[in-house]
Amino acid sequence: MKRVVVVLALGLPLLAGGYFGYVYFASERYLADVAVETVFAYDINADAATVDRGHHIARTRGCFGCHGQQLEGKVFAEEWSWVGTAVAPNLARYARDHDAATIEAAVRQGVGHDGKALWSMPSYNFVLLRDEDMAALVAFLRSAPIVGKPLPKPDLGWETRSLIVRGEAQHMAEWADRMPPLTLGEDDDPQLVRGEYLAKTTCNECHGFDLRGDVADDFAMPDLAVLAGYTDADFLTLMKKGEATGGRTELPLMTMVARDRFAYFTDDELADLLRYLRTLPGTPIDADAVWRELN
Ligand code: HEC
Ligand code: HEC
Repeated sequence: MKRVVVVLALGLPLLAGGYFGYVYFASERYLADVAVETVFAYDINADAATVDRGHHIARTRGCFGCHGQQLEGKVFAEEWSWVGTAVAPNLARYARDHDAATIEAAVRQGVGHDGKALWSMPSYNFVLLRDEDMAALVAFLRSAPIVGKPLPKPDLGWETRSLIVRGEAQHMAEWADRMPPLTLGEDDDPQLVRGEYLAKTTCNECHGFDLRGDVADDFAMPDLAVLAGYTDADFLTLMKKGEATGGRTELPLMTMVARDRFAYFTDDELADLLRYLRTLPGTPIDADAVWRELN
C-alpha cells in the first residue's frame, strides 16, 4: 500500500511534467520549423513622400489598431481566444533594432526576428503588399518617435500549444503561404487592378482570402459581394463612419476597424475599392479553398 502511494506521489507529477514538457517542446519545434523564403533587398528611401506613403499604409492596414496609436505596442490578454497572451511589439523601436529584411519577413512572411513563426500577427493580410509599399512602411516605422513602456512577455498558452501538437492549428507563416496571388494584371483595367490590390491587402484579413466570406472566432464576415447592394453613398458611410445600411451604427467589429483604418483611405482609393468589389458577384466562389476547409 505504502509503495503504491509513493509511486503515485512521485509518478503522477513526473507524468504530468513529462506531458507538459512534450507539448511545450513539440509546439516550439513546430514554430521553429520555418524558413524565410525570400530575403527582402529593396532600397529603403526615407524622403518625405515615401515616409508619408508608409504612414498611409500603416494607418489603413491596421498597424496602429493592433500595435498602439503611437506604435508603442499592445497586450492582448483576454480579448483574443485563440492565444494565451499576445504582445504586439513597439514598432518604432523594433524598426530601429532590426534590418529591413527582418521587418519584411515578419510583415509579409509570418516569420519573426527569432526565426520562429508568428501566431497572431496577420501576415497573410500583407503578403501581397508591393515591394515599394513594404519599403515605405519600413521608412515610416523608422521615422516614428519611440514612446511607451516596456511590455510583458507573450504567452502562447497551453490550449494553443495542445492544438498545435494535435495538428489542429497553423502558424502565420503557413497562412501566409496560402494567400492566393492577385488575379488581375497589367492588361486589366487599372482602376480594378488598384481596387483588387487594396481589397486583398486590407479586407482579406477578415472576409476570407478571396473576400468571399469567412467565419472565425465569434465573428461571421459576409461575402463582400454584398456590396453590390450598397449605393456609393452607403459604401462611403460604412468606410468613413463604420455605419452600415439601415441605420446600423455599431457593428461589433467592422465599425471599429472602419473608424480606425478605412476612414483614412482617400476618395480615389475608396472609388477603386468599390468598383473592384462590385465585380465579385460575377465570379464563382471556390468552395474548396484551403482556408475555408480549415475553418
Ligand atoms: C490584428 C492585429 C495586428 C495587426 C493588424 C498588425 N499586427 Fe503586427 N503583430 C501583432 C501581434 C500580436 C504581434 C506579436 C507576434 C504574434 O503574436 O504573432 C505582432 C508582431 C509584429 C512584428 C514583430 C514580429 C517579431 O516577433 O519579430 C512586426 C515587425 C509587426 N508585427 C509589424 C506590423 C506591421 C508593420 C503592421 C501593419 C502593416 C502590423 N504589424 C499589423 C498584431 C498585429
Ligand atoms: C478586422 C476584421 C475586418 C476587416 C479588416 C474588414 N471587415 Fe468588414 N466586417 C467584419 C465583420 C466582423 C463584419 C460583420 C459585422 C460585425 O460583426 O462587425 C463585417 C461586415 C462587413 C460588411 C457588411 C455590413 C452590413 O451591411 O452588415 C461589409 C460591406 C464589409 N464588412 C466590408 C468590408 C470592406 C470593404 C473591408 C475592407 C476595406 C472590410 N470589410 C474589412 C470584419 C472586418
